[in-house]
Amino acid sequence: MRQGNKSVLVLGGYGAAGAAIATLLGQRIEGNIVLAGRSLEKGRKRADQLDREAGVTGRFGARSIDVADAEQIRQCPHGQNVVIVACGLSVSAIENLIKGCIANRADYIDITPNPSKLGVFQSMRTLIEASDSRFILDAGADPGLPGWLARWLCGGSSGRVNEIAMYGRYRSTGIGWGGVADILGAAKSQGWKYDRGWTQSRLWDIRFRRFEGGLGSSICVPVFLDELQTLPNELSLDHFSFYHAGLNPVTDALMTFERTGMLGCFSFETRQRAFYSTLQRFTKEPFGLALTAESRGDRASRQVSIGHHELYRATAIPTAILCESLLGDSGMRPGYGYLGEWVSQDKWFLDKLQEEGFWYRFSEQYGNRTSKFDG
Ligand SMILES: NC(=O)c1ccc[n+]([C@@H]2O[C@H](COP(=O)([O-])OP(=O)(O)OC[C@H]3O[C@@H](n4cnc5c(N)ncnc54)[C@H](OP(=O)(O)O)[C@@H]3O)[C@@H](O)[C@H]2O)c1
Repeated sequence: MRQGNKSVLVLGGYGAAGAAIATLLGQRIEGNIVLAGRSLEKGRKRADQLDREAGVTGRFGARSIDVADAEQIRQCPHGQNVVIVACGLSVSAIENLIKGCIANRADYIDITPNPSKLGVFQSMRTLIEASDSRFILDAGADPGLPGWLARWLCGGSSGRVNEIAMYGRYRSTGIGWGGVADILGAAKSQGWKYDRGWTQSRLWDIRFRRFEGGLGSSICVPVFLDELQTLPNELSLDHFSFYHAGLNPVTDALMTFERTGMLGCFSFETRQRAFYSTLQRFTKEPFGLALTAESRGDRASRQVSIGHHELYRATAIPTAILCESLLGDSGMRPGYGYLGEWVSQDKWFLDKLQEEGFWYRFSEQYGNRTSKFDG
């Protein structure tokens, strides 16, 4: 699908995630891709680099935008068809960006986790539903794909599914400064599971898991993601959990300290710097992303795993697929929701992930019969 006269603005566009998204979009669309951040010079440099890459069909440009400036964030959707958010936004910035998107009939895709985000969208629901804009939240890989994977697994089940256990791991030394802030910020989301209601589990509730896709073995702790909150109800599950591995043993220890508040005497920036340097220093290959969902039901047990060998490419793929759908005006109605809610209606979504390099494994146990698929 080619969209020569369309334009996509990527906020945080020359950061680690933003640049990965821009790179992939440049290979999939023919329109303008504008890289935005506070430094015009950095944006231009990255745009020039991307313009020179082989196989590029899009045209890259740069803009200086400070998302902390209310007027700039409100005005930035002007002339854009889609705004992609790949940098942290405050609550007021999200509100202003929503208003800007609506005023300019632009769509919105956001890959950044933010516990306050859903509340902002809920408070602006009437305005959004009366608009022409579509708002897709947490549309990266992790967060992003877990909510879709659980729905996908349940959707194809025969009989009732009572329980889903998910496992996730990502490894990369390319995680940016903004990404590290969000990982540390998510420490308080550790320890949550759904047992007929979300409950906080004990500090020693851990599992040891071997991951597919060559990502090795690791200790995992249960985590809560905003996109998962309403999922057990929607899928009528009694039990749901998402056990996540860390990056390396030192960052795992820092996350535990963060969760228990033991390093509260240091500023957030000092803790972020410590996490960033230990991430760089101690995270070793293999790199990539692996997500597994296992379901148990009254008729069958099923397991699906997906993954990619490069974390930021994996992040960019769902974002770029969704951006292309929005540009192509694929009949998606105005509103807001998490990635899993939007793409559950796209029966080709898994094929699209695979076309861009995701691997996929599936197995099902039904009575005495086991079937397996590797793709
Ligand atoms: N869902 C997923 O799978 C997924 C995966 C990876 C990352 N992420 C999220 O993506 C976000 C970015 O992570 P990252 O690793 O790419 O971080 P990063 O490399 O530090 O990139 C952040 C970008 O945001 C820009 N930025 C920061 N403050 C800004 C401001 N006030 N106005 C405009 N631009 C600003 C930075 O440029 P300047 O400082 O020069 O302005 C930089 O280009 C994080 O929220 C992370 O959690 C999500």
